[in-house]
Amino acid sequence: MRSAEPTIRQKYVDGLYAAEDEGLRAIRDRLVSAGRWGINIGANEGKILQFLISLSNAKKIVEIGTLFGYSGVWMARSLPADGHLWTIERDHEAVRQARKAFEDCGVVEKITQVEGDAIDMLNELSPLGPFDLVFIDANKSAYPQYLEWAAKCVRPGGLIVADNTLLGGHVAESEKPESLSRAQYTEMRRFNDLIANDPRFFGTILPTDEGLTVAIRR
Ligand SMILES: C[S@@+](CC[C@H](N)C(=O)[O-])C[C@H]1O[C@@H](n2cnc3c(N)ncnc32)[C@H](O)[C@@H]1O
Repeated sequence: MRSAEPTIRQKYVDGLYAAEDEGLRAIRDRLVSAGRWGINIGANEGKILQFLISLSNAKKIVEIGTLFGYSGVWMARSLPADGHLWTIERDHEAVRQARKAFEDCGVVEKITQVEGDAIDMLNELSPLGPFDLVFIDANKSAYPQYLEWAAKCVRPGGLIVADNTLLGGHVAESEKPESLSRAQYTEMRRFNDLIANDPRFFGTILPTDEGLTVAIRR
């Protein structure tokens, strides 16, 4: 969960490298009004996603967890003309808000919104693969399941990116903290162990405020 008020350091970095335009600011305003600002990525993570998409020439991306489309707009803007983003969300109001964001930001043609539970929807998307990049940003307790899907459906050399993998720093504690459910704590630790030790992956956690895992599917 990001705080609404960025630190001086964040302001400096975002101002230099990840300034929001009117479209992104409008999504931010709607998230704040709905009391949901902070569960989305920050502007600098948006820029990191754009950097990774450009670096890897990603054309086919799956996002798990659309919310109001903030991260989706950042990613779609970095896709080439023949690139596409499939983004999964189970909350109908969020799907509606994201649709408006994608239209207003001029990226709607590059995006397919997939409404439903992520595991079911990922299985439906599998035949469209292999994908170049998956961005995992939904319920934390299912991250290892999403990673298993990515292992099958992301091409060798493709990227797996996941937000919140430090769980606000709590993932490093030896006992589960009160603020987290048992499943959130144990499954996120399992996800991080898999990225670290499973030979199918090569990656690390970028130490952003929330922790952003970046990994290659070998
Ligand atoms: C952290 S927010 C996504 C933020 C978004 N990626 C951004 O940065 O703008 C997580 C979203 O995942 C959705 N979600 C959680 N569990 C889900 C599931 N099992 N299937 C589909 N969507 C899910 C929630 O409704 C929520 O909108």
